[in-house]
Amino acid sequence: MDCLGVIGYGQMGSMLVNGFLASGVLRVDEVVVSSKSQKSRDACAAAWPGISIVATNAELARRCRMVIIAVRPQEIAGILDEIVPVMDGGKHIVSLATGVGLEGLEAAFTGPVTRVVPTVTSRVGQGTTLICHGRQVGMDDALRVERLFSSISDVVLVEESNLPVATFLSSCGPGLLAAIIEELAGAASRAGGLSTDQALLLATRMVAATAAYLRETGETPPDLIRRVATSGGITKVGVQELQRRLPGTFDEVFAAMLEQHDALRVDGYRP
Ligand SMILES: NC(=O)c1ccc[n+]([C@@H]2O[C@H](COP(=O)([O-])OP(=O)(O)OC[C@H]3O[C@@H](n4cnc5c(N)ncnc54)[C@H](OP(=O)(O)O)[C@@H]3O)[C@@H](O)[C@H]2O)c1
Repeated sequence: MDCLGVIGYGQMGSMLVNGFLASGVLRVDEVVVSSKSQKSRDACAAAWPGISIVATNAELARRCRMVIIAVRPQEIAGILDEIVPVMDGGKHIVSLATGVGLEGLEAAFTGPVTRVVPTVTSRVGQGTTLICHGRQVGMDDALRVERLFSSISDVVLVEESNLPVATFLSSCGPGLLAAIIEELAGAASRAGGLSTDQALLLATRMVAATAAYLRETGETPPDLIRRVATSGGITKVGVQELQRRLPGTFDEVFAAMLEQHDALRVDGYRP
């Protein structure tokens, strides 16, 4: 009864199961998994011999006190239809589905509900998981979720109204930054001298080192810019070029992501 259920062994579901078990915060006999395809169930069984893999989501919900739903937003209504009838208010639903609000989840299930936004960088124990608890979540349930996710990342509690933009930074961010790294490396190799692979390696190391520098020194980005972009120097010219173009570009990036977020929103739960 006190085990954790994970519905969906895809990108996020497998990352969470692997992270929780590898960190030691849970034992294999404390986790139950269900997934739609035999391929995903086989992958889970191969990665974690002895783990409980069940045939139906209802069976998982019957056995587990906390159920993490790691499926795409459009699949969540079907999953709730299967699990809610076998769940009492002592159980806890944790949803990863972007765009499915607490209001809709609470309309489907009267017990405690939490929204969680993980990030792919938790595969390497880095990044921030965003957590937003519903009204019915008590202190013990809240701490249990926060402790679980602290085993694979930093954790930040967020108001639901701030979740979209916080998600763009912490969860979409790795994709955005990867695109920037690729463009930096591309520009370097087009400018001459370096192969694409060499440029990509240097750019990736530089980004990791810059993030570590800012974190460890406590300097702000303007502090760092002042150190590097000396008057009349090369860096200053590059930084000025970026500062001229980037605000408009990033405003457009965020506007496009907000528009897509609203288009994907699943408003309310429709039985
Ligand atoms: N990817 C990210 O970086 C990220 C970040 C933050 C939040 N999220 C959210 O996390 C959720 C999962 O994303 P993802 O990237 O992990 O997607 P994904 O790789 O497509 O995984 C979705 C999983 O759902 C499973 N599934 C679908 N229908 C099911 C059913 N009826 N019963 C059981 N399992 C079912 C699929 O099973 P099979 O594999 O067996 O077919 C698949 O493993 C999404 O709601 C997304 O918004 C994702």
